[in-house]
Amino acid sequence: MSDGRDRSGPRLPTTIDTTKPHEARFYDYWLGGADNYPVDRALGDRIAAHVPTIRTMVRHNRAFLGRAVRYAITELGITQFLDIGTGLPTARNTHEVAQEVDPAARIVYVDKDPLVLAHARALMTSTRAGKTAFIHADLHDPESILADPTLTATLDLDKPVAITLTMIMMYFRDTDDPHGIIARLLDAVPSGSSLTISHPTADFNAQATAEAVRACERAGITMVPRTRADTEKLFAGTEIVDPGVVTLEDWHPELAEESLYEVDPDAGPAWIWAGVGRKL
Ligand SMILES: C[S@@+](CC[C@H](N)C(=O)[O-])C[C@H]1O[C@@H](n2cnc3c(N)ncnc32)[C@H](O)[C@@H]1O
Repeated sequence: MSDGRDRSGPRLPTTIDTTKPHEARFYDYWLGGADNYPVDRALGDRIAAHVPTIRTMVRHNRAFLGRAVRYAITELGITQFLDIGTGLPTARNTHEVAQEVDPAARIVYVDKDPLVLAHARALMTSTRAGKTAFIHADLHDPESILADPTLTATLDLDKPVAITLTMIMMYFRDTDDPHGIIARLLDAVPSGSSLTISHPTADFNAQATAEAVRACERAGITMVPRTRADTEKLFAGTEIVDPGVVTLEDWHPELAEESLYEVDPDAGPAWIWAGVGRKL
């Protein structure tokens, strides 16, 4: 088990700023967590005013993450996970789902948020047979993740890795080169590895999504919804597995476990595309 210490050097803040909303914290608020501050709840509520079913959508996202983890192990035979943009520890973190299926599963979590760093120990309650670790790093600099000794001490990069990017790529503008960043991650892992992405979209309601984006941008949070076609393009270098890029709840619903979260059954489709690709 890694010690969860920050190794990011001077690049990333390690102090918690409660004057500005943070991505990890307003998401935690929607999930019903306690690791958030008034600024986060205010932005969370402003977004929810335009997207009233957002709480159900993020619950669907956690359920999708769990299904994708189980799929990686049972269908693709992958037992190593690189979960980037982990978020605050919550119910059914990647290692809990993975190590239930295979106790020897190995997981590296990556997040830039100092509060996630502060809670990293909760992400590292590994089984004895497996291993978990946390890296405090920013995906804008994928080399800082790939070169981190914690990564190579935890994962065997000669064997397939499930790269998990759920609800993070919308913080990357096209000018940040999200395709180049993903290509760099895929270059570092062998064929047979997988890529899991979930991504918000304006495809279902352009006006409400535009209002939510404005609320984020006013609060200093980048927010780039992508169309289904643009989300599919993020999978370049992989073959997207069936059923393709679909709305969260339509991705392999048969793999669902009993949900720990209540969802609104009348919410309609989540405005979030989701899929898994396999590196060729
Ligand atoms: C909305 S949460 C998603 C959490 C989890 N992946 C899930 O799907 O439930 C987004 C997370 O990505 C992290 N994040 C955002 N931009 C990042 C970046 N450039 N590098 C690393 N982490 C980032 C945030 O700190 C936050 O914890």
